[in-house]
Amino acid sequence: MLITDMILAEESMNWLNKLGRRFATAIDVGTGPVLEYPFMFAPFVQKYDLSDYVENNLLAVRRWVDRAPQAHDWNPIFRGVLRAQGQSIDLLEGRSRDLRCAIGELRKIDLRQPEPLGTNAQYDLVTSFFCTECVDVTPEGWAQCKKRLLGLVAPGGAFFSAIVQNCNQYRILGLWFPTCNLNPHHLTGLLDDEGFTAEVNSYACPEFADSGFSQFMVVKAIRK
Ligand SMILES: C[S@@+](CC[C@H](N)C(=O)[O-])C[C@H]1O[C@@H](n2cnc3c(N)ncnc32)[C@H](O)[C@@H]1O
Repeated sequence: MLITDMILAEESMNWLNKLGRRFATAIDVGTGPVLEYPFMFAPFVQKYDLSDYVENNLLAVRRWVDRAPQAHDWNPIFRGVLRAQGQSIDLLEGRSRDLRCAIGELRKIDLRQPEPLGTNAQYDLVTSFFCTECVDVTPEGWAQCKKRLLGLVAPGGAFFSAIVQNCNQYRILGLWFPTCNLNPHHLTGLLDDEGFTAEVNSYACPEFADSGFSQFMVVKAIRK
C-alpha cells in the first residue's frame, strides 16, 4: 500500500475516533472511481453521497455497489486500509457491507459552478481527496472552488481533505496533469476566512517524487 494512503487511513481513523460522532449525512467530492477513501469514513456515516464531474466515474462506483461482474475489485486496497488502521483483515466483509449500505446518491458535481450541486445542499461531513487543486490551477480559481467545497459543510459540520503540496503538475498512469501549486499557508488562510477551526499538516510522500510531488497536506476542520 502507498505511504500516502497508509497515512490517510491512520489519520482519518484517529480523527473520527477523537470526534466521536456518527454523521447523518456526508458527501465525498471528486471521488473519481476510487473507493478506498469512502471506505475509511463509511463506518462513521449513515448516508454517504459520492460525487464527481465525470459520469463514467460514477458508473464505475455504481458497478461496485451493485456487485456487477465488471466492477473493480477493491478488496486488496481495502485490506491495506485495514492493515494501516491496525484492524483485523476479518473485518473486510463487514466494512465493505458498511460502505455499500452507507452509499446514498451518486451525484454529478461541478465545482466551477456557483452552486456545485445545483441546490443549496449541505452535509454534516464533507470529504475530498486530491480534487480542487486539479479543477482550477490558478490560485484565484482554486480559492473559488475551495470556497464552494467548504460551503457544502453545514454549520457545526466537519471537513477532511488531502491535497498535493508544492506541485505544478503530476503524473497519473503516464499522463501529466497541471495542478494549482499550494502550501499550508493557502489552506489555513482560506479556512479561517470561511469560518473553520482547522488543522493543516504536511507529510512527506517520496514515493511520488518522480510523479511531480513529494509532499501532501491533510486538512481536518470543523465549521463554527
Ligand atoms: C485526481 S482525481 C482524484 C480522485 C480521487 N478522489 C482520488 O483521490 O483518487 C480528481 C477528481 O476530480 C474530478 N473533477 C474534475 N473536474 C471537476 C469539477 N469541475 N468538479 C468536481 N470534480 C471534478 C475528476 O473527475 C477526478 O475524479
